[in-house]
Amino acid sequence: MSLNQASVQELQQLESQVAEQYEQLKAQQLKLDLTRGKPASTQLDLAADLDGILAGDYLSESGVDSRNYGGLRGLPESCAQGAEIMGLPAANVIAGGNASLQLMYLCMLTMFFCGYRGPDSAWKNLSNPKMLCPVPGYDRHFSLCENFGIKMINVSMLETGPDMDLVEELIREDDEIVGIWCVPKYSNPTGSLYSDETIDRIAKLGQIASDSFRIFWDNAYVVHDLVENPPAIKSLWQACEAVGTSDSAWQFASTSKISFAGAGVSWVGASETNLKALEQVLQVSIISFDKVNQLRHLRKFPNLEALQQHMAKHREIMAPKFSLVLETLDSGLNADYGSWTRPEGGYFVSFNTLPGLASEVVKLANDAGVKLTPAGATFPYRKDPENSNIRIAPSMPPLAELEQAMKVFVTCVKLATIKQRLDSVAG
Ligand SMILES: Cc1ncc(COP(=O)(O)O)c(C=O)c1O
Repeated sequence: MSLNQASVQELQQLESQVAEQYEQLKAQQLKLDLTRGKPASTQLDLAADLDGILAGDYLSESGVDSRNYGGLRGLPESCAQGAEIMGLPAANVIAGGNASLQLMYLCMLTMFFCGYRGPDSAWKNLSNPKMLCPVPGYDRHFSLCENFGIKMINVSMLETGPDMDLVEELIREDDEIVGIWCVPKYSNPTGSLYSDETIDRIAKLGQIASDSFRIFWDNAYVVHDLVENPPAIKSLWQACEAVGTSDSAWQFASTSKISFAGAGVSWVGASETNLKALEQVLQVSIISFDKVNQLRHLRKFPNLEALQQHMAKHREIMAPKFSLVLETLDSGLNADYGSWTRPEGGYFVSFNTLPGLASEVVKLANDAGVKLTPAGATFPYRKDPENSNIRIAPSMPPLAELEQAMKVFVTCVKLATIKQRLDSVAG
């Protein structure tokens, strides 16, 4: 039955049926969690042999004793590994510690306080620095901006990436727009892939923006495919080189969702001008990153093929979870209740309720023992103007728990939607 054509009586009947299902689920006193995109322990187990992999041999191929201080840019072989993953030259990569988020923070700190070519170019000199935020997006990117007092401007995500017409218009109008956040492959949370055209237009932003404008290109899910023949995205590095804007981007990746989420290796890639600027911040805050861990990751993944084989094992664990989520949504709901993405990779399914219902769905689910990411979390300042986006993270729970959690989710969406419809028809 289409909700929009249902009579008040039919809606009332439906509401009482779904409310009863909801109460039954609630009575089970579930304790399930669909909030953060953490790998399941079965995924972490795939890299368990990192422990002990060095077997006492701490010397890198280039002859560096990884245990000692030194090498602010990381092991050269690790830089090459990151370069291959991100698609830029090894000379333009620094291998860092266990979190790309920390590198993003340090790059922001560099741009904000030091400036990419000295204090005159620092963002802090601007009266109102702003950053463009494709939405929905990754909450921790937004927290970074808030931390620096950088104003965030929402830009819609389309299937091809950010709405580039709007991005270009905003940058042309305001030279205090200092950057844009991008998760180009399997965006968090929509799973979108940036098209070649979008990437070319992003590369050209450096021609219309101020010199201190930076693209924060977070390639967190670059090898995290859920399909066997995955799509590839264009190299931003090459696109920037082609139009002379290599200084306008910082690129990031890490093995957080390849090996250990809390003990992986991260990389930042950028032009030499940018890396030199970053080094000013690095050299006062650290003598060298954890090169032993970098070496462990080189032994575990000696080449891209080994890494891809490893990611295929992740896929075997992740793909059934995403299928389960999509099957439950497809069979339980239809367009009357909202819309959802069908990602080919990454860690999330993005669900849009009808306008105004996300917080109600999250509350209903929470009351029934299923934790969902708070409504609004995928938007700057935690404010979803439509109150409709919910990020579903299927990776962590085992399949049986995920099935339960999704049953609750679908029931909550139904209940909230039917109530809203009934209120509007009856009211
Ligand atoms: C888009 C995005 N970037 C970065 C991160 C965190 O990466 P790392 O563990 O390397 O700091 C995440 C984790 O969920 C993410 O979704």
